Amino acid sequence: MKELEALTPKAIVAELDRYIIGQQRAKRAVAIALRNRSRRIKLAPEIREDIAPKNILMIGPTGVGKTEIARRLAKLSGAPFLKVEATKYTEVGYVGRDVESMIRDLMAVGYAMVKSETQAGLRGEAERRAEEILLDLLLPGTRERNPASGRGPSAVPGDAAPAITGPAIPGQADSGGEGPASTREKFRAMLREGKLEDRVVEVQVQRQGPPSFEVFAGASNLEDLEMSVANITNMIAGGRPKRKQATVRDARGIIIAEQLDKLVDHEKTVEEARRRVEELGIVFIDEIDKIASRGERAGGQDVSREGVQRDILPIVEGSKVTTKLGVVDTTHILFIAAGAFNVSKPSDLIPELQGRFPLRVELESLHAEDFRRILLEPKNALTRQYAELLATEGVNISFSDEAIERMSFLAAEVNSRMENIGARRLHTIMEALLEDISFNASEMGGQSIEITREYVDERLKDVVQDQDLSRYIL
Ligand SMILES: Nc1ncnc2c1ncn2[C@@H]1O[C@H](COP(=O)(O)OP(=O)(O)OP(=O)(O)O)[C@@H](O)[C@H]1O
Ligand SMILES: [Mg+2]
Repeated sequence: MKELEALTPKAIVAELDRYIIGQQRAKRAVAIALRNRSRRIKLAPEIREDIAPKNILMIGPTGVGKTEIARRLAKLSGAPFLKVEATKYTEVGYVGRDVESMIRDLMAVGYAMVKSETQAGLRGEAERRAEEILLDLLLPGTRERNPASGRGPSAVPGDAAPAITGPAIPGQADSGGEGPASTREKFRAMLREGKLEDRVVEVQVQRQGPPSFEVFAGASNLEDLEMSVANITNMIAGGRPKRKQATVRDARGIIIAEQLDKLVDHEKTVEEARRRVEELGIVFIDEIDKIASRGERAGGQDVSREGVQRDILPIVEGSKVTTKLGVVDTTHILFIAAGAFNVSKPSDLIPELQGRFPLRVELESLHAEDFRRILLEPKNALTRQYAELLATEGVNISFSDEAIERMSFLAAEVNSRMENIGARRLHTIMEALLEDISFNASEMGGQSIEITREYVDERLKDVVQDQDLSRYIL
């Protein structure tokens, strides 16, 4: 949370500037909203309670950076963050997802976040324990003190002939210098030198694979999230330990993960996660315009859309939501809603909901000059992405200034002639432009290619001139 202190509104905007071109008003709004939360936390409890976050409604055409701003904001703030699509809750066919699930998912994100932070600090201890357990498995009965830990003599040394003095047999314990203790130390040394990596031991597995909670952080949609929750629950609940043969190399990972799990104080983690979610959590509701209904035609779809708005309302206003990890109060969670609003308008949302998003920011549509900068400036700029991709094949591409100029112009041109899809147009242009090189790159190792204005014109000539063709290709 110390980093939060350093995140002044200016610093936040500067950070966002590294990825998103323009849209200064939106950046300022989110920066202020974020800052107000750390300001609030410093206040006396009486007054702190009354300060609700100023939720933001971002309005702007498609592909101009709404989602991108939210995504970057989440990364840099270190706050529990969840992005949902409002349309998810209206899906026809099966009953739309229950709206409270967004808070449950946010809590899962918060928990995963706190847990992995805690675990980072416990890694050393887990590794130390793993070494002891591995030694137990390699040399049953040699641990001096507390043979507890439920890991009895379950070790089955691998078939591979022991390269050194045979494993000590319990009972021969007190016979001089070759006692179990010293054998254990010899093995420890070999283990550390990596000489036993291919030995096979039998480990008990409660859970499989890599530390599973990490999936929360990377899960891109609710379904993924739900699946991983289910998986983890299964692993824990259905947790009769299984025995599994594994090399020392693999066993170590399994044991460390398991120890990390044991070392984390679940209660404390939940407590901290809840604090963070309640005070710092951000929910980004995308496509909010798709649940706005335009008055008169109260068809089935509209009813369900309005229903979703009504369901969202109490959550945004502040209510208590029961999650697997306890009850979460949503009063101070920041909600950022976004939508293109090209069919409906913000005023088509039910008034109560409109009132809950007092801060409106409009994002501007992008023009050729913006495109030029988007192609070049962001840390993850498209030109850089493609250059890196092709570099893996040994092909070096670079773009001349005129080529960039030309691509930006064409992107703007096609956007104005056909659908305006904002910066996403650059993706289609890039694909079409580099299609040939991408296809042949594997045979072109060692070449350096400069993309010139002529090359751009040559490659894109047909598509740009032929409306019909460009409809399909760009
Ligand atoms: N201002 C910008 N600067 C840099 N990149 C941008 C900008 N606007 C959009 N992009 C890029 O264009 C793509 C689409 O942007 P984004 O997902 O933010 O669109 P959006 O505004 O949320 O649109 P939609 O209404 O369709 O959801 C992303 O790859 C993003 O990086
Ligand atoms: Mg979006």
